[in-house]
Amino acid sequence: MKILLLGKNGQLGWELQRSLATLGELLALDRSDTNYCGDLGNPQGIADTVRAVRPDVIVNAAAYTAVDKAESEIELANTINAITPGVLAEEAKKANAWLVHYSTDYVFDGSGDKAWQEDDKTGPISVYGQTKLAGEQAIQAVAGKHLIFRTSWVYAARGNNFAKTMLRLAQERQQLAVINDQIGAPTGAELLADVTAHAIRKALNTPDVSGIYHLTASGQTSWYDYAHFVLDFARDNGIELKTPKTAVAAVPASAYQTIAQRPLNSRLNTEKLKTAFDICLPNWQLGVERMLKEIYFK
Ligand SMILES: NC(=O)c1ccc[n+]([C@@H]2O[C@H](COP(=O)([O-])OP(=O)(O)OC[C@H]3O[C@@H](n4cnc5c(N)ncnc54)[C@H](OP(=O)(O)O)[C@@H]3O)[C@@H](O)[C@H]2O)c1
Repeated sequence: MKILLLGKNGQLGWELQRSLATLGELLALDRSDTNYCGDLGNPQGIADTVRAVRPDVIVNAAAYTAVDKAESEIELANTINAITPGVLAEEAKKANAWLVHYSTDYVFDGSGDKAWQEDDKTGPISVYGQTKLAGEQAIQAVAGKHLIFRTSWVYAARGNNFAKTMLRLAQERQQLAVINDQIGAPTGAELLADVTAHAIRKALNTPDVSGIYHLTASGQTSWYDYAHFVLDFARDNGIELKTPKTAVAAVPASAYQTIAQRPLNSRLNTEKLKTAFDICLPNWQLGVERMLKEIYFK
């Protein structure tokens, strides 16, 4: 079996290089690849790549993820997040291949406090969210074999992430302010990649699993409680911090001026995924603690 992975060097793409390797022959590309076009800003180039490679499964981990910048780079964000995924879906259908794609809690407006279900009404409040929703819709309109995983608050040991930023700031500053009214589930790229590999195995034998699924770690938290979890880990493990536990202020998102709006309620209901693929999703703390141990106790 041949697998084409796009966006191989992102948080998720990096982990997919590991988890997909045992499924079959893996060709992993990023946008600067010279043998094949891996640039999602070039839909025709991506179509040519699929036609040349003739994969059985395409996994698209590439995306325009700069949420604030997307507000002023609408066309580019739309090409990468919506137009090219639609082209991928068309090419996948022609090749009778599966397309695996990722989307986001940002397709919802963030209202209420219930965990969103897959068929709940969408209503993105940012350009990034709009383009990711348009990508889902383009794939669904083609109606080929696809798996779309909506996830949230992705982190990985590689690259920058919220936990690392909190630790750095707590080592530099006497006090911190962290948002306490945005709620979601920090989800490790490792978990996403492992579930993806598992889901592909199942999908190959059970084509009727084709569809959209919510995929996050279990549990929920605010950025404020997430920050405390990370800083408590640091203190418990002898990492010196300048910020005392009592000097972390909880602030509403409205106190932070950002270019793009973010949803307050990012809870995603994962029951459909757990049932369809017979999997268990560990609590978010497990993955975050593991990532912290990897970073600080090599
Ligand atoms: N990060 C989150 O919190 C989050 C939350 C919910 C959903 N998601 C979704 O999860 C998926 C994986 O996200 P991630 O966290 O792994 O994002 P990431 O770390 O930002 O990785 C995105 C990758 O896409 C690549 N890319 C950007 N423009 C490209 C182009 N024109 N052609 C080819 N590659 C391009 C980037 O390459 P460069 O580094 O060269 O730009 C990067 O390697 C995405 O679909 C994202 O929308 C992410």
